[in-house]
Amino acid sequence: MTVSSAPGKVYLFGEHAVVYGEPAVPCAVERRATVSVTARDDDHVRVRAEDLSLNGFTVEYRGSTGDHPDVDVPAPLVEAAMGYIDAAVAQARDAADAPDAGFDITVESDIPLGAGLGSSAAVVVAGIDAATRELGVELSPREIAERAYRAEHEVQDGQASRADTFCSAMGGAVRVEGDDCRTIDAPPLPFVIGFDGGAGDTGALVAGVRSLREEYDFAADTVSTIGDIVRRGETLLAEADPDADEPPEELLSELGRFMNFNHGLLEALGVSSRSLDSMVWAAREAGSYGAKLTGAGGGGCIVALDPTPETQTGLQFTPGCEDAFRAELATEGVRLEE
Ligand code: PMV
Repeated sequence: MTVSSAPGKVYLFGEHAVVYGEPAVPCAVERRATVSVTARDDDHVRVRAEDLSLNGFTVEYRGSTGDHPDVDVPAPLVEAAMGYIDAAVAQARDAADAPDAGFDITVESDIPLGAGLGSSAAVVVAGIDAATRELGVELSPREIAERAYRAEHEVQDGQASRADTFCSAMGGAVRVEGDDCRTIDAPPLPFVIGFDGGAGDTGALVAGVRSLREEYDFAADTVSTIGDIVRRGETLLAEADPDADEPPEELLSELGRFMNFNHGLLEALGVSSRSLDSMVWAAREAGSYGAKLTGAGGGGCIVALDPTPETQTGLQFTPGCEDAFRAELATEGVRLEE
């Protein structure tokens, strides 16, 4: 058996604008998906998923999602999760030149699903790593990122950006601009995440921004202003000491101000929601340096910067917030667990 894990991520800056060629800075966080893979003698793939907010399910199939009559969770959720696992299996078979390889796969994850934390990317990245290693092939994190991107691209009908998969495979803070993905230095940023228990519809939210941007120059300007914020934000990170035990207060305060600005522009583009806005405001009122939604929006998670426990406590008492937790920057991306 081979077990690999990979982290989820938050967007420090730049979601949505990244779709139009602006840069974005996602950061990996210490919430992981763990995938255990055992090679089988036949070409079947058997998947067991736990803790995926799906009540767990078990599916056996021969390499295409098909029907899953035995599962007692909503079919669309199973189909979505199985689509990603399917695509990861296809990439592993291709990388190992083993088209008939079969696997028993167990997926565990403490990353809320579809909530802007890159849960599917983490499952795909860890799955490709574990399945290829199980077949005796060791890919570099960059190769895994590339294959995971292809897998997500296929499942999401060409809508995926490289941000989630690259960040999950490499760990730390990354910068993504079109096809150009690189890791960047960042001090240990004190992220706090608030989760409203829901999820946004990424496709619909991306389409909404696209049509606003096509219709109004000021919406197009809003998207490019997000790019300006990202460029200023990454300059701040580049000037910081990556080996500092704690980021200096001036850095947190300026990053927080930029996060607030970025959230305001996302709100103007129509991708926030009442619960995301109330968590953002609760985080600000609790004394965080700044807060914004993370990911596609519409529902899901916000991210705030606060080294103290105040923001987490404040969020826990905020109506609409189902869970609040600290999530340190994950310096390690995909890794072998056992
Ligand atoms: O919700 P997430 O974590 O999948 O992020 C979506 C980010 C978008 O910029 C809205 C879309 C994308 O593919 O980059």
